[in-house]
Amino acid sequence: MSNNIAVVILAAGKGTRLKMDVPKPLAPLHKRVLLDYVLDSVDGLGDIYLITGHQNDLVESHVNQNRPELPAKFILQKEQLGTGHAVRTYFEGNPDSEKYDYTLVMCADTPLITKDILEELKEEISKGPDAVAATFEESTPFGYGRIIRAEHGFTIVEEKDATDEQRLIKEVNSGLYIFKTSYLKSHIFDIDSNNKAGEFYLTDTFKEDANVKAHLFADKSYFMGVNDLYQLARAERGLVQRNIRKLLIEGVRVLDPSHTYIYSKNVGIGSVIYPNVHIDETSTIGKNVTIEPGCFVVNSVIEDGATLKANTYVTDSIVGNGAKIGPMAQLRPGSEIGAGAKLGNFVEVKKSKIGENTSVSHLSYVGDAEIGREVNIGCGFITCNYDGANKHKTIIGDGSFIGSDSQMIAPITIGKECYVASGSTINQNMNDGAFAIARGRQTTKDGMARRFIKKKDRK
Ligand code: UD1
Ligand code: MG
Repeated sequence: MSNNIAVVILAAGKGTRLKMDVPKPLAPLHKRVLLDYVLDSVDGLGDIYLITGHQNDLVESHVNQNRPELPAKFILQKEQLGTGHAVRTYFEGNPDSEKYDYTLVMCADTPLITKDILEELKEEISKGPDAVAATFEESTPFGYGRIIRAEHGFTIVEEKDATDEQRLIKEVNSGLYIFKTSYLKSHIFDIDSNNKAGEFYLTDTFKEDANVKAHLFADKSYFMGVNDLYQLARAERGLVQRNIRKLLIEGVRVLDPSHTYIYSKNVGIGSVIYPNVHIDETSTIGKNVTIEPGCFVVNSVIEDGATLKANTYVTDSIVGNGAKIGPMAQLRPGSEIGAGAKLGNFVEVKKSKIGENTSVSHLSYVGDAEIGREVNIGCGFITCNYDGANKHKTIIGDGSFIGSDSQMIAPITIGKECYVASGSTINQNMNDGAFAIARGRQTTKDGMARRFIKKKDRK
């Protein structure tokens, strides 16, 4: 059946209520645009026909640039005289339209529809009806077409045209339909525009006594339409909520789903995610990971049992098994933190490898470094990696101890099991096992402090 479907996406509208510079199909939704999500859902279903109108050049070039592999064609609806008129334009503009047994029609402004929903509609029409409309129940149905079920068939009455009594009906039209092409074609040219909007309504092809079916979906979240910025924000939430719901079922503890932003599908069982955590779709979180409030994880891998303490920011990096990062640490691109390592508060790491069980516990900058395993780095350590023109590397061997407030002037290599005394500025390489101290010698004069301590009451 899949070779037999024409997918018609209605995308000619302007989206006036969104108050954006771009046409509605190109309104942004989590790093992509509305139309991208619709195209994802229909990918593989059949040939795609996009009905474009407002700023059609922008919509068309977006699809051509981003989805060149899709079997998509464009049909221009010069004037937008309604959804029925859009489908008429499709038939007039596509000489092949009748070669498809089925025509699926959907809107470019319902980004949460999934392949499963479309499969369910295909299943319904294979049972024999001439057309199936996807419906759902909405407690505040304002704006939607209401489903008026009859003994046989049903009709759809638009908000504007509905009587007060009809407006109370909670079952509404989602704007997603599948038709036998012969049925749609034979009815689409019969409809008129004698209604309050003066438009040709696609919905008028559903009639009493016709062999048509209103198929009620229990979960309305899939059909959320985007007409204004409030609905756009809700769609964004819907996208995340759906993912989080799936993760919860899989065994991920998301403590406050409505205040958590997980786009990744790869979060391991037993992990605990606190509120206000952001994880993007390209990140992978292992099993039994804990991510405390305020953390951002972007394009990174957090391995099993690791902990990101509050307000830690991780980009393009890998955190090894059982490592503990933060609070308030930053892993910038190219950081690889070994298993069991510990990075504490106000530690920034950039393009560096930190070995297993190494600890950088407080207030440090580690850039362009390779630090071995079981190294202990004290508070206030700095790799001086930049000379104003180029970046240079710092290497510290396994088992070394670097005292607090030390700087490494890169390029520099410190061997294994070295000891650097606190407060040292190291600019010469050290062999394995070496000790270095590089700080001004202390001079102490008993009683001399009073010369320097100024107090108001002292002469
Ligand atoms: C439509 C349905 C309504 C349903 C609702 C679901 C009709 C008459 N009404 O109403 O029953 O409950 O969707 O969201 O169909 N478009 C064109 N060309 C046009 C007009 C519209 O391409 O001439 C496109 C729009 O860009 C949009 C889609 O069709 O993507 C739906 O149009 P819209 O004006 O949003 O219809 P609704 O009032 O939401
Ligand atoms: Mg709409």
